[in-house]
Amino acid sequence: MTRTYQSDDWNEYRMEYGDPHRELEPLEKEVAVVDEALAMLHEVGVLPHTHYDHRKMLAHRKAVRELFEIPWTAITPRMQRLLYAINAITQPANMIAAGVFCGNTFVSNAGAAVGPGACYRAENLIGVEIKPQEAERAERNVRRVDATGVARVVAGDAVDVVREFKEPLHLLYLDADGTDRRGKGIYLDILEQGYERMPAGAVVLAHNSQNCAERLKHYLSFVRDPANFSASVNVIFDIEGLEVSVR
Ligand SMILES: C[S@@+](CC[C@H](N)C(=O)[O-])C[C@H]1O[C@@H](n2cnc3c(N)ncnc32)[C@H](O)[C@@H]1O
Repeated sequence: MTRTYQSDDWNEYRMEYGDPHRELEPLEKEVAVVDEALAMLHEVGVLPHTHYDHRKMLAHRKAVRELFEIPWTAITPRMQRLLYAINAITQPANMIAAGVFCGNTFVSNAGAAVGPGACYRAENLIGVEIKPQEAERAERNVRRVDATGVARVVAGDAVDVVREFKEPLHLLYLDADGTDRRGKGIYLDILEQGYERMPAGAVVLAHNSQNCAERLKHYLSFVRDPANFSASVNVIFDIEGLEVSVR
């Protein structure tokens, strides 16, 4: 089953990439929009329910604002909330995030299990970044909110890291933009390396489903094919978009 959640204001809801913490709308509006997206994800069977702890989400946001060095990010507050909520609801024991840059995207996912927003215990939360200096900064950032080491950033190619991860993979977050002509087309290469180890109910999240839809067309065809994923929803509440797919 494939669906699209599209908010009326997706094209007007804009952030400054260099000013990630600025409030873009009243909190109630942000929560309402994300709740609508979660309701559709629940309706099609991606999520077992839509409940998550809103106070913990805000504690996570506060820690990232105070402790992370973020030169820029395209993760809007709505997207940060949605990523946190999906992880809080599905509680993946093993999660890999591919292409994490300074770690903001990674911690939006991992923050449901580590730091002040933690609501469950995970086993392996791995952020992968191909540029060593960015990986170092991301790891430094993550260490400031997670003293346990459960969430960690490795420098490497996500295609290799996912291939070499031999445990069941419960959540895969895709944001790598590749180092060659593939660009974001690399999403499908990364997914192919982990697909067989994703159990029923495992979730794949693909950032930029809206503004990189053309580049992602092979990836999107794959996850929207019911032979490969039981449901896939394109969430468009900002100009980037997130494709949420469940095995
Ligand atoms: C565009 S950034 C993601 C930023 C994120 N969307 C945000 O708004 O914060 C993509 C990152 O993927 C990394 N990358 C590209 N190819 C990769 C690969 N094969 N494996 C891991 N990381 C990769 C890049 O170095 C870059 O830091």
